[in-house]
Amino acid sequence: MSEKVIIFDTTLRDGEQVPGCQLNTIEKIQVAKALEELGVDVIEAGFPISSPGDFNSVVEISRAITNPVICALTRAVKKDIEVAADALQFAKKKRIHTGIGVSDYHIQYKIKTTPDEILRRAVDAVKYAKKFVEDVEFYAEDAGRSENEFLAKVIEAVIEAGATVVNIPDTTGYCLPPEYGSKIRYLKENVRNIDKAIISTHCHNDLGMATANTIMGVMNGARQVEVTMNGIGERAGNTSLEEVAMIIKSHHDLDLTTGINTPLIFSTSRLVSNLMSMPVQANKAIVGRNAFAHSSGIHQDGVLKKRENYEIIDPVSVGVRESSIILTARSGRAALNHRLELLGFNYGKEELDEIYHRFLILADKKKEINDEDIRILTGEVFQGEKSIRLEKLQVTCGKSAIPVATIGLNINGEVHVATSTGNGPVDAAFSAVKQLISKTVHLEEFLIQAITRGSDDMGKVHVQLDHEGKIYYGFGTSTDIVTASVEAFIDAISKIK
Ligand code: KIV
Ligand code: ZN
Repeated sequence: MSEKVIIFDTTLRDGEQVPGCQLNTIEKIQVAKALEELGVDVIEAGFPISSPGDFNSVVEISRAITNPVICALTRAVKKDIEVAADALQFAKKKRIHTGIGVSDYHIQYKIKTTPDEILRRAVDAVKYAKKFVEDVEFYAEDAGRSENEFLAKVIEAVIEAGATVVNIPDTTGYCLPPEYGSKIRYLKENVRNIDKAIISTHCHNDLGMATANTIMGVMNGARQVEVTMNGIGERAGNTSLEEVAMIIKSHHDLDLTTGINTPLIFSTSRLVSNLMSMPVQANKAIVGRNAFAHSSGIHQDGVLKKRENYEIIDPVSVGVRESSIILTARSGRAALNHRLELLGFNYGKEELDEIYHRFLILADKKKEINDEDIRILTGEVFQGEKSIRLEKLQVTCGKSAIPVATIGLNINGEVHVATSTGNGPVDAAFSAVKQLISKTVHLEEFLIQAITRGSDDMGKVHVQLDHEGKIYYGFGTSTDIVTASVEAFIDAISKIK
């Protein structure tokens, strides 16, 4: 049977430390509950000595959460440990996470002491924490840059003192994956009592290697991984929970498993991103907006033939409804036809060619073509011959210019042209249209909407006209808002019998 890797989530501690990501207690409980549902094994809920707010959050998360272990961070300082124990009083399962720096940098320049003193303080902290809780995790800060021999000595001593988990942080994100992996192997092979504790990874992403280092740690014997949702955390962040969970799930050759309920990954990612006001980069693995989006014609064709041609993860398995085929000017007919079919349209070759031709014209103006655009494109092609068609439209407008519009309308096969001024370009265009039609119309309502986002968007215009006491509705779309308005206006007029 596959061995389980324990997922220790530190979104609410290492993640929440990030400037701008601070959450209030209610929001932290919301995240903690989502993490519980997601199936994490340990939630690091905060650093209780750091502020009354953090203390309170650990108390309230302890009350609200049932299954995961609730962990509180401390320095190797008695007062920290006492406060953490107090904050954890309501936790059903509790852990104190204590530790101290072990690299030459930390010993000489941060703590300004000697290796022997570090060893003594590490052991004392673990022994003291054991007075309050059974489950004590020790972190050897900056282990990534520490001497393996000294690190092994500290780890052996803290396990002897009762540490149940030993955390080997690459605090500065410096290690190369083989280097981090061999550090974990070194501990497995050189710490006499290593089988009495679980080795944990805790990797930072300063060189973009946090996930690779974590996996190397696991491949060399670590059985707990410290991670955050979306990889948020100090500086360049921590190892991403979703990446590790999906690597373990996808690589059966690792023969490992986690308790993560992967279909909840995407919703948890968005919850954390929204509450922490920390957008997820579009190309972020697993949870980025583009993680399952295909935009080049070759890839789209490949995915449509068989999803696995270009996808190693089924998007549904991480809570993303489906892969998306992004329709752009680089998309081919296969992608357009696929989208048309999804929208319920089935066209033959000639009709498809015609829509594709219009699609490319629009795609050159607009970066992305969405479903609304497609419906409009198909409507444009098949709404049949109109008795009045817009042939030409030219407007002049701007600050301190008098708006002037020249309109060319094809009415029953004959082109008529008129020019008019108005209080704006749309008004000028409407009054030019009125000159060309024999009917008296009164504009009752005029509504402009952008269909999606962006200044390159399609504008959608609805108008409501009154003609001899009867109401007529018209609809027009274009990337040019004046054209969309005139199209809507003549659409309504052409409905007057
Ligand atoms: O990066 C680190 O070393 C830490 C420890 C406090 C666990 O976050
Ligand atoms: Zn950290």
